Amino acid sequence: MSQEHIPDQKLIDEIIAGLLQEQPSISPKFFYDEIGSHLFEAITFLEEYYPTRTEKQIMMQYGEAMALVIGKCDVLLDLGAGNCEKGSALFNSLMPKEYRALDISKEFLEQAIASLQKEFPQIQMQAQTCDLQEEMVFPDLVGRKKIFFYPGSSIGNFDPDAALGLFKNIVKVCEGNGGLLIGVDLVKEHKVLSRAYNDALGITEAFNKNILLHLNRLVKTDFDLEHWEHYAIFNEQLARIEMHLRSTQSQVVSWPGGQKHFDGGALIHTENSYKYTQEKFESLLVGAGFKNVCSWTDPNRYFLVAYASA
Ligand code: AVJ
Repeated sequence: MSQEHIPDQKLIDEIIAGLLQEQPSISPKFFYDEIGSHLFEAITFLEEYYPTRTEKQIMMQYGEAMALVIGKCDVLLDLGAGNCEKGSALFNSLMPKEYRALDISKEFLEQAIASLQKEFPQIQMQAQTCDLQEEMVFPDLVGRKKIFFYPGSSIGNFDPDAALGLFKNIVKVCEGNGGLLIGVDLVKEHKVLSRAYNDALGITEAFNKNILLHLNRLVKTDFDLEHWEHYAIFNEQLARIEMHLRSTQSQVVSWPGGQKHFDGGALIHTENSYKYTQEKFESLLVGAGFKNVCSWTDPNRYFLVAYASA
């Protein structure tokens, strides 16, 4: 997931434009440098962070039922595949002919695929870079039954409008054949939500603050982590966890060619993590043009896995 090497000018411009906004923001895609990816992995082991574990339970319990509903799979397209662990866990039940791993950076994927290929020599595998903010096209996969897999509630990073756009894109690419298997975090007691993003060990705090270290390398900003603090709250009206970094004092942040003043208490928005009710999520899928939705959940109804057929 690390996107280092030659910092891309387009990404640098995007980051600077975000900092200069009246309400400054940094895209959550910049969390995942090497340390950030490991911190996120650590988050998934925290007692407070229930989504990863709960999704895994649902997949284990209902995996066979899902495979029955999904049927034949020519190509499994794994969105935000990362280490390909979740996608490859579907190989035995879905038995795809081909596996296409997609993520912002290819290098991580290629390593993962190289070792998977030995274990599953019969599956054709390919890594492909993909920014989900942009339209996806797969001219080489026309006419084949495509199953998209988007686990982990990564969809929560999108505004519902943008999520709808992504779903419409998938419906179009599926050509009436195939569908989307997707995991999403559900609205629940606020205490549970808030704890998941304010863990006692401070791993989420480190994950959030690390985005500034990533920027210091990428953009050559001079963020001083001493003067920023983690701030995560559940915005009930919008049904989303918001993560911010809060300036603990009046300060100036500089980079080659620019600077920005932050008052004490000023916020930089780093992430939205939308939570859905089952009803709202299913109607979003149907609204995008999917024909049928089947959903599976855990006994606490903390998390939902849905399959929507195109
Ligand atoms: C990877 C987007 C699903 O929103 O829960 C975890 C990222 N941020 N803790 C989430 C995250 C803070 C995570 N997603």
